[in-house]
Amino acid sequence: MIKKCLFPAAGYGTRFLPATKATPKEMLPILTKPLIQYGVEEALDAGIHTMAIVSGRGKRAIEDHFDISYELEHQIKGGSKEPLLDEIRSLIAKCTFSYTRQIEMKGLGHAILTGETLIGDEPFAVVLADDLCHSDKGVLAQMVEVYKNYNCSVVAIEEVPLDQTDKYGVIAGKLIDGTDDIYRVSDMVEKPDPKDAPTNLAIIGRYILTPDIFDILRDTPAGKGGEIQITDALLEQAKQGRVVAFKFKGRRFDCGSIDGFVEATNWFYNTIK
Ligand code: UTP
Repeated sequence: MIKKCLFPAAGYGTRFLPATKATPKEMLPILTKPLIQYGVEEALDAGIHTMAIVSGRGKRAIEDHFDISYELEHQIKGGSKEPLLDEIRSLIAKCTFSYTRQIEMKGLGHAILTGETLIGDEPFAVVLADDLCHSDKGVLAQMVEVYKNYNCSVVAIEEVPLDQTDKYGVIAGKLIDGTDDIYRVSDMVEKPDPKDAPTNLAIIGRYILTPDIFDILRDTPAGKGGEIQITDALLEQAKQGRVVAFKFKGRRFDCGSIDGFVEATNWFYNTIK
């Protein structure tokens, strides 16, 4: 039902400078796998095989990662290290990858609009690879189920401490009757001050969007921070009752911040390794 997943990956990743000067933030590894590979695995787990990546200058390592490295493969063939490439090889075999470049980094909403050329006129998933999720059933797979029931845009949310609302898009809404984890969204605010936040229900980097979002984004002016915000475009859909927020099951690590990145590294080392 959802066939394509968009990965906005053009941001500068300034919080990780100088590491991100010549290396994409999405290629920073948690243990041995880059962040974006976890995201692609999550999409595949949701039955999505077509990966659409919005990249930018200095991001070529992402394309190389999702390709064969003949010299390396020849070098390690038949040796003890060969199995280390099994996972990524199988991922490459199961997925297709297409790319477009965001020329000017005008915000997440603008990056998603840039991806229209790869998505076309169909509902699609969005993964921000720097939000790393871990759960028995992948978060995107959970969201696809929600989409099947409601047929409108779906945002993944989690409760955050009230003093952190200014790092997120925050929703307001009512629990849908008969559920304890799905809200009909009535309002959304980008990075509100804790005193202005309608709730502590924060949007994390997983979305399923209906394609009318592109027309809305075309008319969305720059908002908070001078950037075109996906939250502002989603609010237009929400006003028509066409956005639900889903409290997913699982853990999320904010790997776009140094604290979250270290926490994820330790957690994966102790739990998954
Ligand atoms: P962030 O807000 O984390 O920004 O973007 P950033 O540039 O990646 O990192 P910092 O804040 O400078 O450290 C959220 C997501 O949106 C993408 C980023 O790549 C990331 O996946 N993004 C953001 C774009 O693709 N283009 C943009 O213009 C802005």
